[in-house]
Amino acid sequence: MDKKRILTGDRPTGKLHLGHYVGSLANRVRLQDEYECFFIIADLHMLTTRPEKEHIEALRENVREVALDYLSVGIDPAKSVIYLQSAVHAVYEMNLIFEMLVTLPRLVRLPSIKDMARAADLSDETLPFGLVGYPVLQAADILMPRAHLVPVGKDNEAHVEITREIARRFNYLYGEVFPIPEVMIGDVPSLVGTDGQAKMSKSLGNAIFLSDDAKTVRQKVFGMYTDPNRVRADIPGRVEGNPVFIYHDTFNPNKAEVEDLKERYRTGRVGDVEVKEKLAIALNNFLDPIRERRAKYEAQSGLVERIIYEGTMRANKEGDETLSLMKKAMGLSGVWNRISRRAREAIKREEQAHQQAGTS
Ligand code: TRP
Repeated sequence: MDKKRILTGDRPTGKLHLGHYVGSLANRVRLQDEYECFFIIADLHMLTTRPEKEHIEALRENVREVALDYLSVGIDPAKSVIYLQSAVHAVYEMNLIFEMLVTLPRLVRLPSIKDMARAADLSDETLPFGLVGYPVLQAADILMPRAHLVPVGKDNEAHVEITREIARRFNYLYGEVFPIPEVMIGDVPSLVGTDGQAKMSKSLGNAIFLSDDAKTVRQKVFGMYTDPNRVRADIPGRVEGNPVFIYHDTFNPNKAEVEDLKERYRTGRVGDVEVKEKLAIALNNFLDPIRERRAKYEAQSGLVERIIYEGTMRANKEGDETLSLMKKAMGLSGVWNRISRRAREAIKREEQAHQQAGTS
């Protein structure tokens, strides 16, 4: 039996962080054996808000960073495909066909589009057509290898729903080509930032990156937001919603230690320094194997590029196959095939007529 398929990925706008890990990367690593996995580095999606040349130039560095982040958390290039979106031709064609299968109001109403527009300082007047089409392009990504499962963070859930609608609509109009993909949200759908803001995000400056060194992690942990009412160690503190304890719960495997710290925090018998010190240790223990793998991949010149290159070749093979299934189902290839067959016949007849005229 063929394995089912996963497709997911990220925009190459910078390094990935702990929020990416718990939202989606952990699921990807876990499911690598059970599924055939495709991991997209979505540079075309980056263009929806950052079309300027400087951002394209930054891709040189950022694509490599994202691939290294994938490899360092344990995505194995012998099992999984890592590829560059803009080098897969079928995605552009699929995107255009899918644009006919979804309504404009459905896209414009999505909160995620509004959020991205706001984050990029875009108003209704300056909203790019392509940003409204962001979820359609994402549907092209997901349906390119005819994926069954999409592990993503909470913020991408609505886009997978759009993908499902497009896949259903395509199958309804033209016949069964696509499985209807399921979404899978990580254990921690949205990780708080170090500053206590709802979401860890590079642009908010509240992220701990997978590539941060031990000293940086320690500094970030010591600068973390905790219970603001607790001005002294002997005042009872709040554990619930406290980012330091959320991180302990998420990344510290020593549950007894975490329970002990919580108990003493609640009753004013532990200082922030101890809680943070233990968190820094836990996070660095978690990140150490990730750092080691990163260093190994970095050490071999051209290795990361080769992995992306081979993955992209493979993705193109899948994309061409899907596109051809789509065009066949739609009858589009039939239209073109008939034109080209009749044209070739006419050319041949003309050649034969010339030959006959020449020999007689
Ligand atoms: N939208 C994703 C993000 O937030 C990136 C992405 C592009 C993606 N295409 C995808 C995720 C396909 C999952 C599946 O950066």
